[in-house]
Amino acid sequence: TTPYGTLPPTSPLPQRRAISLPRLQQLRESGEKITMLTAYDATFAAVADAAGVECLLVGDSLGMVCQGLPSTVGVSLETMRYHTECVSRGLHRVQATAWLIGDLPYGSYAESREQALRSACVLMQAGAHMVKLEGGGWTAPTVQFLAERGIPVCAHLGLTPQTVHALGGYRVQGKTDEAAATLRRHALELQDAGAAMLVLEMVPAKLAAELTAELTHCHTIGIGAGSGTAGQVLVLHDMLGINLGKMPKFVHNFMAEAGDVRGAIEAYVQAVKQGRFPDDALHAW
Ligand code: KIV
Repeated sequence: TTPYGTLPPTSPLPQRRAISLPRLQQLRESGEKITMLTAYDATFAAVADAAGVECLLVGDSLGMVCQGLPSTVGVSLETMRYHTECVSRGLHRVQATAWLIGDLPYGSYAESREQALRSACVLMQAGAHMVKLEGGGWTAPTVQFLAERGIPVCAHLGLTPQTVHALGGYRVQGKTDEAAATLRRHALELQDAGAAMLVLEMVPAKLAAELTAELTHCHTIGIGAGSGTAGQVLVLHDMLGINLGKMPKFVHNFMAEAGDVRGAIEAYVQAVKQGRFPDDALHAW
């Protein structure tokens, strides 16, 4: 008992197997949804790991969430290295079960495959198990170059925030037949190039589900892409309801019904695993 009431008992950490690429493939084949959240610091990373999130993404969304930038364009490789290292350290203070993905920031991989390799090595040496890069078409040779050198790659199609200015805003992508066909071609090329994971952001649920069925060795992780993807990702601060801007339609505030951060993250994991989140009637296009 404290001056503020009786503290609830702290639940023990469940024993879990470390997440690896074969384990993700197993989840996929068994039909179990993969859960992912963003993490930017040691404490939240440890809490998310303890709550059972399988993949943590040190997203360049930290530009907005942590640095107060207007977009991800201003995020540097050094900033990504620093936060990847913080998250990795946080994981090692607990069980370190989560699969850690480091986001390659704007301008760190477009110049050449060699530049992409150098940037990827920075994040891998900071503790990442996989790097993520945005875009399709021109990125396939880069993905192949990295994958052949033993660096697991997560691709990212649909709304790619680093190109927000070229896209004309944060809009749903792949809505026309032509745009959907391009997205499908890019996704298949990325799988052939060796991408082991693919974030699909703000694309119609039907298209994302079709792509998921076609990509057997590249796990689709949706954000605003409906319930038919192999897994789901949200920005941590969005699902905790502490986004200072407008809450996107595809987000649910899990903190509203939970008593604490770990409870909110556990509720997210359960909702994704049980197919209750996202609800296509509320969160999809
Ligand atoms: O940077 C990020 O957080 C992301 C997710 C939104 C997928 O790329």
